[in-house]
Amino acid sequence: MADKKVIAVVGATGAQGGGLARAILADPNGGFACRAITRDPNKDKAKDLTGKGAEVVKADLDDVDTLKKAFAGAYGAYCVTNFWEHFSGEKEKAQAKNMADAARTAGIKHVIWSTLEDTRKLMTANDTRMPMLQEKYRVPHFDAKAEANAYFAGLPVTYLVTSFYWDNLYAFGMGPKKGDDGVYRWAFPMGNRRLAGIAVEDIGKAAYGIFKVGQLYLNRTVGIVGENLTFDEMSEKLSKGLNIPVKYNAVEADVYRGFGFPGADELGNMFQVYRDFEKEVVAARDVDVTRSLNPSVQTFDQWLARNKSKISLA
Ligand SMILES: NC(=O)c1ccc[n+]([C@@H]2O[C@H](COP(=O)([O-])OP(=O)(O)OC[C@H]3O[C@@H](n4cnc5c(N)ncnc54)[C@H](OP(=O)(O)O)[C@@H]3O)[C@@H](O)[C@H]2O)c1
Repeated sequence: MADKKVIAVVGATGAQGGGLARAILADPNGGFACRAITRDPNKDKAKDLTGKGAEVVKADLDDVDTLKKAFAGAYGAYCVTNFWEHFSGEKEKAQAKNMADAARTAGIKHVIWSTLEDTRKLMTANDTRMPMLQEKYRVPHFDAKAEANAYFAGLPVTYLVTSFYWDNLYAFGMGPKKGDDGVYRWAFPMGNRRLAGIAVEDIGKAAYGIFKVGQLYLNRTVGIVGENLTFDEMSEKLSKGLNIPVKYNAVEADVYRGFGFPGADELGNMFQVYRDFEKEVVAARDVDVTRSLNPSVQTFDQWLARNKSKISLA
């Protein structure tokens, strides 16, 4: 352990950071050690990481001093925020600033900041196709992350632009739901445009690939993706993979925003960006680069074969 480069992994008990933690721990001769950061070292996911050989350290993104201690002596830091815990762009930026400040104090040699694009740059300020949210954002969890890029400037950083997790189908309940006629339906404001998607486990594996390559990726933006698929294509794959009829309903973005669940407006704007700016979103992510960083990056079909038991189709 002593001669290994320590990677401090924020979100190690979660999806992105968990994938990275598992990738580090699965490669004991890779030269890296995992320092898993959590607010609660006693939770099962933290204990599981300890059992697999991680050092588990307590810290809170809202408390920069705890982060400074957690990052001390580490070579690398994986920095991710969890917008969906609080739904606030401002809080997300404050947490990102705390991580960047802690990385600076600790003299981290390689930071990966899990970010997304600034969707406001895709349209003019007076564009009325979608509402502004939280006063100044189009898609708060994208735009706030992009704004937070500035906090990391000057650090040895890789800006990692991630994609929509296919795992949302089970983790976020976004999968198709069974109708009275036995047909499974799902509705998104995506028309026939492609969604840049990825198995979330592959984000962590790609991040590990970035730490391993090191220098080449410093001060660069890297967009990762598993596959770009329309909802009709995903429906067909789900139908075949799960042996059920699945039908996609292309609704208007205003209809989706009106669905009323928490974050419907935010996700309505997000899917509309994926639809209206398909070319730009797809161009910002590269499957070949992703495969070079993570040779086992999955296609949708491969992800589905491994995760079908998790998809509850009530
Ligand atoms: N869902 C998607 O399709 C998608 C796609 C691209 C990007 N994203 C972005 O991914 C981010 C979420 O990442 P995820 O999916 O890996 O999250 P997740 O699985 O929900 O896990 C959240 C992680 O963040 C940690 N965390 C949250 N607040 C913390 C705090 N105050 N201090 C310390 N740790 C904290 C949690 O640690 P403890 O609870 O153990 O402390 C946990 O490990 C969001 O910002 C979202 O915008 C999501």
